[in-house]
Amino acid sequence: MAIARLIACFVLYSSIRHIPSSLGVILRTTDKIVWANEFEPIELTCLIESISTNNPRIEWKKIKNGVPSYVYFQNRIAGDLEHRAQLREPANILIFNTSRSDTAEYRCEVAAIDDQRDFDEILISLAVRVKPVVPRCSVPVAVTVGTTSELRCLENEGFPAPQYRWFHNNEELPQDPKSSPKFVNSSYTINPDTGGLKFRRVRKEDAGEYYCQAKNDAGHAQCPAQMMEVYDVDILGIFLKSCAALVVFICVTAWICLAYKHGCFASKDHTENNYKLPAQDDGVDYGDADEGHFRHKSSFII
Ligand SMILES: *[C@@H]1O[C@H](CO)[C@@H](O)[C@H](O)[C@H]1NC(C)=O
Ligand SMILES: *[C@@H]1O[C@H](CO)[C@@H](O)[C@H](O)[C@H]1NC(C)=O
Repeated sequence: MAIARLIACFVLYSSIRHIPSSLGVILRTTDKIVWANEFEPIELTCLIESISTNNPRIEWKKIKNGVPSYVYFQNRIAGDLEHRAQLREPANILIFNTSRSDTAEYRCEVAAIDDQRDFDEILISLAVRVKPVVPRCSVPVAVTVGTTSELRCLENEGFPAPQYRWFHNNEELPQDPKSSPKFVNSSYTINPDTGGLKFRRVRKEDAGEYYCQAKNDAGHAQCPAQMMEVYDVDILGIFLKSCAALVVFICVTAWICLAYKHGCFASKDHTENNYKLPAQDDGVDYGDADEGHFRHKSSFII
């Protein structure tokens, strides 16, 4: 029994040992999909499982957008990785300081002329994570109670695309306001993918300082806090309406004055009136300055 198992083991062992070398060169990698953080080192592994040739030819190609280029050729680091990488035993490539432009596919190719199977290659995809930069945030300065309001946050550098979080007076807004007793009465929704924070009906309690944070696996960044005021009444609306009313009042007054003057001079002298009218529109008709209603008109225009 024990002898039979021993023989079985020996047969298995020798088959594992012998089949590869009879097939020739075989490559293997520890990771076919590799994530690295920008500005950190990363090693792409190209392990030689079996080979008989003493001096195999090793090459690495970078394939970006379907276009291949050499990064290791004729025993030298070349192209995009020149001075930024080195080859490590057996055929690994070590990038000292990855950059976002290193995101690509890399192919390790080994040619072993003395082997029966004299070529193998392995494809590794490298993705370089990029830390988000400070996002651009837009927070309305003043809103009215009961109206809708939207705060926006956008960051374009981070890779993978960051997720957004919003903070109100330095406290994170929960994704769902109903989940927190503090925000249970707030009507906001947050879209963590687009960075939008929307209030359906702004409340007095929603006033305060807001900032947004963009975060991915490489890191996070946030914009400076900005104040959002909430008013009970539409102050801007009232101001605009007052302005409009004032303009209407001025126009009507001017029109009445003009009509009155027109009537006045028409009864006295036709030619004098026609001659003077354009000058009066500029409010510099000093000839009539002693007439009370004209002084009134001029002061309005000035
Ligand atoms: C990596 O490269 C960046 C610029 O490309 C440089 O600022 C940084 O200091 C480098 N880091 C290391 C560890 O060499
Ligand atoms: C939310 O509204 C309810 C009912 O109007 C009120 O009783 C409660 O105090 C409010 N909660 C907060 C945190 O404002």
